[in-house]
Amino acid sequence: MKKDLISITDYSKEEYLKIMRLAAEFEENPDQDLLGGQVVATLFFEPSTRTRLSFETAINRLGGKIIGIADPGSSSAAKGESLHDSIRMVSQYANLIVMRHPLDGAARYAAEVSPVPVINAGDGSNQHPTQTLLDMYSILKTQGTLDNLNIFMVGDLKYGRTVHSLLMAMSAFKNPIFNFISPAELQMPNEYKIYLREKNIRYFEHREFSDIISEADIIYMTRVQKERFSDPIEYEQVKNAYVLRNAMLEKTKPNLRILHPLPRVNEIHTDVDTNEKAYYFNQALNGVYTREAIIAHTMNLK
Ligand code: CP
Repeated sequence: MKKDLISITDYSKEEYLKIMRLAAEFEENPDQDLLGGQVVATLFFEPSTRTRLSFETAINRLGGKIIGIADPGSSSAAKGESLHDSIRMVSQYANLIVMRHPLDGAARYAAEVSPVPVINAGDGSNQHPTQTLLDMYSILKTQGTLDNLNIFMVGDLKYGRTVHSLLMAMSAFKNPIFNFISPAELQMPNEYKIYLREKNIRYFEHREFSDIISEADIIYMTRVQKERFSDPIEYEQVKNAYVLRNAMLEKTKPNLRILHPLPRVNEIHTDVDTNEKAYYFNQALNGVYTREAIIAHTMNLK
C-alpha cells in the first residue's frame, strides 16, 4: 500500500522517532543515491522558497530527478484544469508527488486520486506536516529531548498551519505545556484546543508574553498570514501584534531556542539574529535532512 503524508497524525510516534533518526543519518551523510533516478514531481500551487527548494535539494542529494510547477500561472491550472486531472496526469510521470495548495484538504484529495504517494507541502491553513517534522528535529537537536517542554506559540495561530501540525505532533510526547499568544482575532482554533483537552494536555492562552517569557523552552514565532485574510483592514489591525526583540531575551532560560518556519515579516526583529538563542536559519537547513528522511521513509528506500 502506498504511504502518503497528508496530516502529521498519519505518522505514529515510532515513525516520528524513525524520521528523527534518519534525519540525523542524512545530516552526517547527505549524499546517498537511494532514489536511483526515480522522478519526483514538486507541484507548488502557492508560493514557497524553503519547502520547495529544500525538497528539491533533498531529491538531488538522494539521486532523484525533479519535474514540477513552481508557479501555477505557468501550468494548465491557469486554463481551468481541475486538480483531479492535474494529479491523474502527473502521477503517470512521477514516482512521488510533493504538493502545496492554497485549499484546506487539497492534499488529502490528491492522495485519493493519485496511485503514487503524495506528500503534503502545506494545504491552506490546515496542515504542514513536513515542516513539523523538521521543527521536531530542530527541537530534539537543541533540547536533547522531546519530553517535558514548555512551548510558546506566538502570532497567527488561526491561519498558521505549522502550529496546528506541531501541537498535534508534540502531544505524542511526555508532559508538553503549550502557551498560545495571539490577538483575539487570531487565536488557536477550537478544534486544536479540544484535541489537547481530550489528551489532558495543559495549554494557556495569553495576549502578551513578556511577563512569562522566562518559562519558555521554545518560542515558536509565526508570520501573520496576510494571504488568508478576506478583509485587508483586519490584517492591518493585527499585522504588527508581536515583535520579538533581543532585549526581551535577557532573562530567558539558557536552553531557550527561537524557532520560526519563515518567511518572517516584522515579527522577529533582526537584532535577534545574532543571539545564540536564534535558531530559525539552522531550522531551515534541518529541512533538507528531514525531507531526505521523509522521502526515504515514504519510498521505502534502503
Ligand atoms: N516554512 C515554509 O513553508 O516556507 P516557504 O513558504 O518558503 O516554503
